[in-house]
Amino acid sequence: MEKKYIADLENLTPLIGREIIMDGTTIALFRLTDDSVKAIENRCPHKNGPLAEGTVSGTNVFCPLHDYKISLETGVVAAPDEGCVKTYETVIENGKIYLVTAL
Ligand code: FES
Repeated sequence: MEKKYIADLENLTPLIGREIIMDGTTIALFRLTDDSVKAIENRCPHKNGPLAEGTVSGTNVFCPLHDYKISLETGVVAAPDEGCVKTYETVIENGKIYLVTAL
């Protein structure tokens, strides 16, 4: 496993998504109200909507284009819609957020 620094926690506004690009992959970052940080692929499985611009409610994000509800924990789209986005593990150490990647 490898950790890659991606952002400082203090620079993320709670419940407002941030797009980052890591090794050519576009990732949506979200700081939740408990200061945990979720990272998912920034591409809705429906029609590629930019999930970083979606509305966060609890541990879900609603796609800004057609309102698919996507879990920030599992990446799974809530029924009756279907699909899944990739999720990424994050760790926070001394206020710095890292993405955990497999080597
Ligand atoms: S592109 Fe996300 S719901 Fe349609």
